[in-house]
Amino acid sequence: PQCPSPTPVAQVSQYACKRRTTTENHNKMFTDALEVLAESSEFCENEGPCLAFLRSVSVLKSLSFAVGSLKATQGLPCLGEHTKAVMEEILMFGRCFEVEKIQCDERYQALKLFTGVFGVGPKTAEKWYSRGLRSLREILTEPNIKLNKMQRAGFLYYRDISKAVSKAEAKALGRIIEETVHSIVPDAILDLTGGFRRGKEYGHDVDFLLTTPEMGKEKGLLLQGILLYCEHQDSTFDVTKMPSYRFEAMDHFQKCFMILRLAEDQVEGGLQRDLGDTRCWRGVRVDVVVPPVDRYAFTLIGWTGSRMFVRDLRRFARKERQMLFDNHALYDKTKKLFLRATTEEDVFAHLGLEYVEPWQRNA
Ligand code: CTP
Ligand code: MN
Ligand code: MN
Ligand code: MN
Repeated sequence: PQCPSPTPVAQVSQYACKRRTTTENHNKMFTDALEVLAESSEFCENEGPCLAFLRSVSVLKSLSFAVGSLKATQGLPCLGEHTKAVMEEILMFGRCFEVEKIQCDERYQALKLFTGVFGVGPKTAEKWYSRGLRSLREILTEPNIKLNKMQRAGFLYYRDISKAVSKAEAKALGRIIEETVHSIVPDAILDLTGGFRRGKEYGHDVDFLLTTPEMGKEKGLLLQGILLYCEHQDSTFDVTKMPSYRFEAMDHFQKCFMILRLAEDQVEGGLQRDLGDTRCWRGVRVDVVVPPVDRYAFTLIGWTGSRMFVRDLRRFARKERQMLFDNHALYDKTKKLFLRATTEEDVFAHLGLEYVEPWQRNA
């Protein structure tokens, strides 16, 4: 007998921001396979197919039941022919030949390995692959490879930062950063964002938002004393600028992409560690972004994610409300007006959307 679904399939929105997606994924069997196809498309610079696979993954993650037959997907948005063929194969055989072929592919394996290094994107990975390089050791011993500062740190701390970060480690880092920041600006505000704010138990990094109640005090608010590596970008924010149309455009606020040293005795229950690792510390990837307080709500939504949730929030704003939304601002094109917001609820209300809790944004 089929499991009844609380949300009828016909009511699932094409917009991720109108769906509620917890960390509980009832369709992991399908989404794991489709994520491989998305990644493989990305490596081939096929942006369209990549996004199509990611959209179907996101829809499947939002379902409160496990799909047991193709018939159960009738009426669901975003599921293309290719996705349905993959799902059908998995339903019949428990696996998908195309996915397994990709996972065995030398190029896919190398690009996945290379892009797993902090500071290495698909373009650099492709360059190394086409030069015949296949392993991290080969990259480090190849004399003609020039690594930038970020990539050097990525290799130096590779083992640490490819290890998952636990919620306890994230909380410990929050306390440490808060203490450091408070010694500079006593009333500074620090919030945990990213995957941990969405309720995930583990992450690949820890994301924080930092600001001060008084406008301007956030300027040059630097983090010192605990950095192993910091890629610091000063603010290039222009208050007169329109929100960006481009989804992937990086925001202009002051930010740090860091690797921090976290000690064993700073974490309740201890560190995540490999067997045989006898060090009393580990490196952790941490991002901190510092918006002025009047932009905090926009940036909080942007950095809480998920990527697909925020991407669709922007698409929804543009297509359904004639508004432009990004990490800096919300602009109403009809009224020719910037809309102000102090909380995330304000932003959803401006957009005429039901509020979605952070833990329901795992689209
Ligand atoms: N983000 C952003 N600008 C950046 C980097 C990230 O707006 N320069 C946003 C992303 O769009 C995402 C959120 O910050 O919504 C968190 O990014 P990331 O840490 O990459 O992903 P998480 O969802 O936190 O997942 P993980 O647990 O793997 O870290
Ligand atoms: Mn459930
Ligand atoms: Mn994160
Ligand atoms: Mn991050």
